[in-house]
Amino acid sequence: MDKPLVSNRALLMDALAGLRAKPKRMHPKWFYDHAGSKIFQRITELPEYYPTRTEISILRHEIDAIASYVPEGAALIELGSGASTKTHILLGALKTLDAYVPIDVSGDFLLSVADDLARAYPALTVAPLVGDFLEDLALPSATDGAPKVAFFPGSTIGNLEPPEALDLLNRLRSWPDISAFILGVDLVKAPRTLILAYDDPAGVTAEFNRNLLHRMNREAGADFQTEEFAHDARWNAALSRIEMHLVSRKVQEIHLGADRIAFDEGESIHTESSHKYTRNAVEDLAAGAGWHVAEFLTDPDRHFAVTVLVPAQTRSA
Ligand code: SAH
Ligand code: TRP
Repeated sequence: MDKPLVSNRALLMDALAGLRAKPKRMHPKWFYDHAGSKIFQRITELPEYYPTRTEISILRHEIDAIASYVPEGAALIELGSGASTKTHILLGALKTLDAYVPIDVSGDFLLSVADDLARAYPALTVAPLVGDFLEDLALPSATDGAPKVAFFPGSTIGNLEPPEALDLLNRLRSWPDISAFILGVDLVKAPRTLILAYDDPAGVTAEFNRNLLHRMNREAGADFQTEEFAHDARWNAALSRIEMHLVSRKVQEIHLGADRIAFDEGESIHTESSHKYTRNAVEDLAAGAGWHVAEFLTDPDRHFAVTVLVPAQTRSA
């Protein structure tokens, strides 16, 4: 057999660990190569995918309340900025911002978006950071000494496992001169509404999910027949989350690097979770990392919340 082409050793190592595990799983950060980021943009425009337009409408309606938590001369640091669509609402209203630091793993996508932003806001220092926000990232020097406001929209926090989410909240809480954390969270609602948002009739979400297999084929020497895996979105009520799976349609074996991975018919790879929150759940999560929920801003249907967290007066020991 020809030696498989591996251009991304980190992906290969992570995929080997995840696909040898039982049940099989992949970390969601691998969804977002350039192709994945483009497909995700199409998801945000689907009629069934309510989170993006709901969060945008909350940001627009409540921009004055939100802006009151951003001190003059602040640096805005956005986690998982993607296309930075929601950022424009903040940048338009926050005239006194000094620096904007978008952080994303999708490198070339991030850099091209940052270029456009720098052109659109010539007075603003735009300092993009390509990297994994689950790791300890050194903030660019443009933020030194400035009050910091973190922005994490899209309910991307819900894609983390609860201990990862808590760890992230703790890390942001310890940033020097952190003033506030603007955090978007998707709320618990009727399961049929949730399922449709993650299993759209046009099949865009299915395409996004399968892009993970294409990516392993392109970068990690895998040979998935991608159509032999079905997209499945499940509501897990006990854990309050939507789960995305890729389910093997038959008994099959795939190659990954120099290894082989066997699938039973119906066996799945758990590719992503999207946790759904209540106000109490957000308050508990925040309090566990020394934050106080100062604002919990929702739409009339209470589908989504933009929250503003501030450092709690006394940190819980
Ligand atoms: N903020 C945008 C995009 C959300 S999609 C919105 O609200 O519409 C999630 C984004 O987070 C993607 O751009 C993805 O590349 C990025 N991302 C996911 N996991 C990440 C990680 N561990 N580190 C850095 N970026 C990550
Ligand atoms: N943060 C988004 C969410 O949980 C990410 C997302 C939307 C997603 N649709 C998806 C991730 C489909 C994987 C598959 O809503």
